[in-house]
Amino acid sequence: MSSSIYATNSALCFLFLAVLVANVSFCFSTKVYVVYMGSKSGEHPDEILNENHQMLAFVHSGSTEQAQASHVYSYKHAFRGFAAKLSDEQAFQISKMPGVVSVFPNSKRKLHTTHSWDFMGLLDDQTMETLGYSIRNQENIIIGFIDTGGQSLPFTESFGLDDKLKISMYRIWPESPSFSDTDMPAVPPGWKGQCQHGEAFNASSCNRKVIGARYYMTGYEAEEESDAKISFRSARDSTGHGSHTASIAAGRYVPNMNYKGLAGGGARGGAPLARIAVYKTCWDSGCYDADLLAAFDDAIRDGVHILSLSLSAESPQGDYFNDAISVGSFHAASRGVLVVASAGNEGRAASATNLAPWMLTVAASSTDRDFTSDVILGNGAKIMGESLSLLEMNASTRIISASAANEGYFTTYQSSYCLESSLNKTKSKGKVLVCRHVESSTESKVQKSKIVKNAGGVGMILIDEMDQDVAIPFVIPSAIVGKKTGERILSYLRTTRKPVSRIFGAKTVLGAHPAPRVAAFSSKGPNSLNPEILKPDVTAPGLNILAAWSPAAGNMFNILSGTSMACPHVTGIATLVKAVHPSWSPSAIKSAIMTTATVLDKHHRPIIADPEQRRANAFDYGSGFVNPARVLDPGLIYDSEPADFVAFLCSVGYDQRSLHLVTRDNSTCDRSFTTASDLNYPSIAVPNLKGSFSVSRVVTNVGKARSVYRAIVSSPPGVNVSVTPNRLVFTRIGQKINFTVNFKVTVSSKGYTFGFLSWRNRKSQVTSPLVVQVAPGKKGFVR
Ligand SMILES: *[C@@H]1O[C@H](CO)[C@@H](O)[C@H](O)[C@H]1NC(C)=O
Ligand SMILES: *[C@@H]1O[C@H](CO)[C@@H](O)[C@H](O)[C@H]1NC(C)=O
Ligand SMILES: *[C@@H]1O[C@H](CO)[C@@H](O)[C@H](O)[C@H]1NC(C)=O
Ligand SMILES: *[C@@H]1O[C@H](CO)[C@@H](O)[C@H](O)[C@H]1NC(C)=O
Ligand SMILES: *[C@@H]1O[C@H](CO)[C@@H](O)[C@H](O)[C@H]1NC(C)=O
Ligand SMILES: *[C@@H]1O[C@H](CO)[C@@H](O)[C@H](O)[C@H]1NC(C)=O
Repeated sequence: MSSSIYATNSALCFLFLAVLVANVSFCFSTKVYVVYMGSKSGEHPDEILNENHQMLAFVHSGSTEQAQASHVYSYKHAFRGFAAKLSDEQAFQISKMPGVVSVFPNSKRKLHTTHSWDFMGLLDDQTMETLGYSIRNQENIIIGFIDTGGQSLPFTESFGLDDKLKISMYRIWPESPSFSDTDMPAVPPGWKGQCQHGEAFNASSCNRKVIGARYYMTGYEAEEESDAKISFRSARDSTGHGSHTASIAAGRYVPNMNYKGLAGGGARGGAPLARIAVYKTCWDSGCYDADLLAAFDDAIRDGVHILSLSLSAESPQGDYFNDAISVGSFHAASRGVLVVASAGNEGRAASATNLAPWMLTVAASSTDRDFTSDVILGNGAKIMGESLSLLEMNASTRIISASAANEGYFTTYQSSYCLESSLNKTKSKGKVLVCRHVESSTESKVQKSKIVKNAGGVGMILIDEMDQDVAIPFVIPSAIVGKKTGERILSYLRTTRKPVSRIFGAKTVLGAHPAPRVAAFSSKGPNSLNPEILKPDVTAPGLNILAAWSPAAGNMFNILSGTSMACPHVTGIATLVKAVHPSWSPSAIKSAIMTTATVLDKHHRPIIADPEQRRANAFDYGSGFVNPARVLDPGLIYDSEPADFVAFLCSVGYDQRSLHLVTRDNSTCDRSFTTASDLNYPSIAVPNLKGSFSVSRVVTNVGKARSVYRAIVSSPPGVNVSVTPNRLVFTRIGQKINFTVNFKVTVSSKGYTFGFLSWRNRKSQVTSPLVVQVAPGKKGFVR
C-alpha cells in the first residue's frame, strides 16, 4: 500500500514539473531511501519501529512530527531497516549511524546486473536491441571455464582473497539459480561436449544453460599422495569459486542476492543467455598441467567459442611452451577460440603472468562499492576500515597493541603480528587488539581474528602494510586499516593513558573513493618474457565482487576479490562481442575490448593505483578499464591471424624446427618480424629504444564504410612520436590500411615512459597505449 502511495506521489511530481517549474525543488529535494540494518536479533517489532522513528527524528532536528511524515515503512520481521523520504544530506547522516549497513536510493529495479556491471555501464538488453544489436545470439555462444584450484586451507578460510585466489577452484554447482535454464532454447547444434558422469553428478546435472561438464584428475592423482583429499570426483563445485567466476561471466538474473545482507540487489552475469561448459581441472591441493591440457584439448574440440581461465603459473612465468596455459591457449587461438585469463595477484612490477600475445590478460580494479567498518577511538577520532563482518561492539573497550600482549617465548615483535599462540590470554581478555599483517604471513587475516578471539580479545584492528582494501569476513568485530592510519592508531595508544575504541559492523558504501582504482594485489607489467608485448591487456572489476557460490561451502552467494574475478567480467564482455559479431576473430574481439577501454575514472580523472594512490599507468591496467558500452562498435580493429603468432615466435628466437613441433604444419620463419614489437597488437611497447625506431601496424575498418580517422598522439616524455600517414581514409568495410609509428629519443632518461596513440573521428576513438623504455647510455640524443 505504501509503495503505491509513493508511486502516485512521484507521478504527481512529474505532473507538477511539467506545469509548474517553481515546484521542482519541492519535488526533488527529498527522495525515498532504503536504510538497511542487517538481520534482526530478537527485538520486538514495536521496539524496532520506535527506534526507526528515533533515528528519523534525529535527522529532522528532533521533530517527531517530521519523522513520522518522512517514514515510509519499517522492515521489522525478517530483517531490520526502514524506508523514508530523505534529503541527500539526511541519508548521508543516517548512513553514519551505528547499526546501519547501507543506505541506497529506492531506484527502479530492472532485470539485470551485479553492481560491478552497473558500474561498468553495461547496456541493458532493451538498449542493446534498440541500438540494433541482437542479444539473442548469446544463446549460440559457448563459454568454457577451465580453472585451477587447490587452496590448502579449508574453504571457510579461503574467501576474501587471503589465499589470494591465485588458486581459484573451478567446479560448478548446477542447481544454483544463476545456472537455471528457464526459457532457454535447445543446446546449439554442433555442440560436441559431454555431461560426464561422476560423484553427485550425472547427465541430468547439466541443462540448457550448463551444457557440458567434464573433469580431469589423472594428472593430479599421479602426483599427489594417494590419500590426498578429493571432494566430489566429478565436475561438481565443492569450494564455490567456480560458480563465482561462471556466474560473473554468464549467470542468469537472480533477484535479491546478497552476502549476509551486504551488497544486496538483483544480479546477473555479463552475458546471461550464453551457454556454459565446465572443465574442472583442479582439486583440493592444486591442478596439474596434464589435466589442464586435457581440458583445453577437449574444450576446443567440443566447440567452445571462448575460454575463461582464472588461473596462472607463478610469476615469473616460464617459456611459452613450458607452460600448459600458453600452449593450450595457443592452440585455442589457432582454432578461433579466444582465451581470457587473469594476470595474477602478486602486485609487484613485472609479476604479470599469462603473457602470451594470443591471450587476453586481465588485471583487477575496484568498483565504487566499498565494504567498510567504522572505528571510533576514545579521543573521538573516527576511522574507516575495511571488513565484511557484521559483528560489532556495543560499547567502547580498552585497546592495546598486540605487542603488549606477548606470551611466553614470543617477542613483542612477533606478537605484534598476532601469530598463533603468541598472545597472552590474561593480557588480551576483553580488549581490542591492534595486529599487523604482511603479505608473506603464514596466518591469514581471518585466522588472525580467530587467534585474537581465542586469546579472549573482543575486537581486532589489523594494520595491513600492503593496504589492500580487501574486505574480509572476520569472526569478531574487526577492521583492516592501511599503514598510515595504523600508525595514527598506535600513536594514540602510546600517548593515551587508557585508550579505548569501538568497532562497528560492516556496511556497504557507494562512491566513497575515486573509482575504479587499480587493486593493490593486481599483477603488473612490464612483460617479463617479451617486453615488446604490453601486459596486462586491460583491467576490470576484481575487488569485493558478489556472485554465486557453492552451497557446499556454506552460502549461495559470496564476495571475493582477485584477478580471478576480473577475468570473467572480460569473458562476459567478449561473449557479447562474439554474439553481435560472430565472424570476428579472437584478435578482433580482443582489439575491440582494448581500444575502447578508458584510462579515466568515473569523475573523468586519471585512474589511480592502490595502495600508493599514485597515478596508474599501462603496466597497471594495460589499455585501461573495460567499457562495455563502447566495445560493440570499436570503429577500427587490430587483427592478427595464427600465422602472425608464428611470425612473432620466430622474431623472439624460436626456430622453424621447434615451431613445427608446436604447429605440426609447414609454417616457416620466412615471415618473421624485425622485432616482436611489430606484431599487430592493439597496444605498442618499445623496450630499449636507442636513437629512433619504427613500428608498423594495420587497422581494419569495421565501422562505417566511408570514414576518416586522424591520429592524435601523446608522446611519452623524452620521446618524439610521429605517425605516418596521420590520416586514414576508408571507403569500405573490411578495408585494411597500414601505418607506421616512429619513435625518436629526445631526452635520454632511464626507465619506462607512457603515452598514447588514438585514431579519432567524430564517432570513434581507437586508442592504444604507447610504452617506451629509452635505452640507458649516450645514444639517447639524436641531432
Ligand atoms: C541423477 O541425479 C539425480 C539427482 O541427483 C537423480 O535424481 C537421478 O536418479 C540420477 N540419475 C541417474 C541415472 O543416476
Ligand atoms: C551486543 O549486544 C547484542 C544484544 O544485546 C549481543 O547479542 C551481542 O553479543 C553484543 N555484542 C558484543 C560484541 O558484545
Ligand atoms: C601472561 O600475563 C600475565 C599477566 O601479565 C602473567 O602473569 C603471565 O605470566 C603471562 N603468561 C605468560 C605465559 O607469559
Ligand atoms: C607440408 O608440405 C608438404 C610438401 O609441400 C605437403 O605435402 C604437406 O601436405 C604439407 N603439410 C601440411 C600439414 O600442410
Ligand atoms: C618530432 O618529430 C617530427 C618529425 O620528425 C618533427 O617535425 C618535430 O619537430 C619533432 N618534435 C619535437 C618536439 O622534437
Ligand atoms: C601492410 O603491411 C603488411 C604486413 O605488415 C604487408 O604484408 C602489406 O604488404 C602492407 N601493405 C601495404 C599497402 O603496404
